[in-house]
Amino acid sequence: MPSVQTKPIQVKGLQKSYKQHQVLKGVDFEVEAGSIFALLGSNGAGKTTVVKILTTLLTPDGGTAAINGYDVASRPDHVRQSISLTGQFAAVDEILTGRENLVMIAKLRYLKNPRQIADEMLTRFGLTDAADRKVSTYSGGMRRRLDIALSLVGKPQVIFLDEPTTGLDPEARIEVWKIVKELADGGTTVFLTTQYLEEAEQLADRIAILHEGRIIASGTLSDLKKMFPSAKVEYVEKQPTLEEIFLNIVGKKEGM
Ligand SMILES: Nc1ncnc2c1ncn2[C@@H]1O[C@H](COP(=O)(O)OP(=O)(O)OP(=O)(O)O)[C@@H](O)[C@H]1O
Ligand SMILES: [Mg+2]
Repeated sequence: MPSVQTKPIQVKGLQKSYKQHQVLKGVDFEVEAGSIFALLGSNGAGKTTVVKILTTLLTPDGGTAAINGYDVASRPDHVRQSISLTGQFAAVDEILTGRENLVMIAKLRYLKNPRQIADEMLTRFGLTDAADRKVSTYSGGMRRRLDIALSLVGKPQVIFLDEPTTGLDPEARIEVWKIVKELADGGTTVFLTTQYLEEAEQLADRIAILHEGRIIASGTLSDLKKMFPSAKVEYVEKQPTLEEIFLNIVGKKEGM
């Protein structure tokens, strides 16, 4: 059994190629329990590849990754029991209602009282009014909230969110941020990927930047600000600036 001090996510020298294309060339990082860790990188940097390896959906070519002390390659079942994944693209069933989606997942996880669990999640994620509508009628933000709610059924200790707010409008993005913060406050370890520097800035205890197959910078936001004022980060920063303007105009900056 892993000891209580074991960091929930430990990654060493991770490598992965797709045919000739080496996407990960030796990726190292660790994530502390109950913290929010953001993996930043531009399109194609390999963020989803890292998430897939850590969630046992893809086998690395080299290096090791352990979740709660369990190696992803040799103990995938143990890993899966303690994690959940909200993928880059929503995994909700469009034909079912929000409530039906939640009940289905609770049943798949053999939980008692699936309807009660569904009700609690609907309340927590502000989806009670829409609970009995088909997901096909939901907005992008509502789908994303439902998607995150689904991944929390069964109270996983470590959750993976792959670009949880890409494609959401600024208000929906802030709702997701609030949910993620609450999760970490409750002791859940959160690993998220993002292309938005402001997202990392708002949420993450630690940030790592994945570029050309390696973590080229990592640390707290203030660590990064000191050491990494390059053109790439500047590019990422531009979008949140516009976002801030938008938020000021629509007057929704509450508490962030
Ligand atoms: N199954 C695959 N077969 C071949 N190449 C792949 C495969 N999956 C990913 N790639 C390539 O690996 C690289 C990294 O992809 P990945 O999806 O991990 O990037 P990402 O950082 O998540 O990008 P995005 O921000 O667009 O989601 C890309 O160049 C991609 O084209
Ligand atoms: Mg991706």
